[in-house]
Amino acid sequence: MAEHLNEIYISVLELVNSGGKIIKEAFSSKHKNVTTKSSEIDFVTETDQAVEKFLIDGLKEKYPNHRFIGEEGVASGLKCQLTDEPTWIIDPIDGTMNFVHSFPNVCISIALLVNKVVEIGIIYNPVLDLQYTARKGEGAFLNGNPISVSPTTALSDSLVIMELGTTRDEEKRQLVRDNFNILQTKCHGLRALGSCALNMAHVASGGADLYFEFGIHAWDIAAGDLIVREAGGVVYDTEGGPLDILGRRVICASSIEIIKEVIPLLKQMKNERD
Ligand code: IPD
Ligand code: CA
Repeated sequence: MAEHLNEIYISVLELVNSGGKIIKEAFSSKHKNVTTKSSEIDFVTETDQAVEKFLIDGLKEKYPNHRFIGEEGVASGLKCQLTDEPTWIIDPIDGTMNFVHSFPNVCISIALLVNKVVEIGIIYNPVLDLQYTARKGEGAFLNGNPISVSPTTALSDSLVIMELGTTRDEEKRQLVRDNFNILQTKCHGLRALGSCALNMAHVASGGADLYFEFGIHAWDIAAGDLIVREAGGVVYDTEGGPLDILGRRVICASSIEIIKEVIPLLKQMKNERD
């Protein structure tokens, strides 16, 4: 399988680079074809759908036995089923709201899981040309150069990313406000950049020290999970248990010390699993 994974990695990188070109070409257009999904601020564009189809078609042609969990496929009614079979978990554009507004924090996020373990993770922002990659046990890279998390171990020294999410649900909005208020005076600063996958990539490359979010999906976090861990960071469920990739919650940091410090402070929320 290891040799096979080398070949798979090369193939998927080629596809991701081509998928990135589709995003980059559409990025500046003022006339994106936008529709809504779970809420009035949860968007999908024809580019999200085109890139997901492009990636899945390309991978299916080479690996007909592989399975797929894609954000837009699930949105259109496909089941989100994770088995031990080789499975690609794909977010064709993470940061769709950013994409709609031509705010350049957008990426493809794609991961290959075998026996439910992430073997390959790629997060690619084609607009800013930032490609984060990891293979299990082989470290994490940005544009081919090794990356590692920051040396920060205290919340008081941390730059923290949290997100506002893509829902108008009042319970979720209250949770965001509460956690914002709790953390505001306990860390160096708070950021919300609109892409879960890129938030995790920022933790992996040392630009941020902590990121957490409630309500995310498997396709937002699968690649980031491996990239953060391969960069020396830690990834957990928001209550401190092991990350449940379908569990709709994530917290990751440069160090376990920050996680231990922040978890008792956070207000928690549960979502229905993917
Ligand atoms: C969203 C982004 C956003 C996060 C949301 C996600 P999408 O994904 O990752 O940062 O706050 O929870 O749904 O809709 O842009 O693919
Ligand atoms: Ca997403």
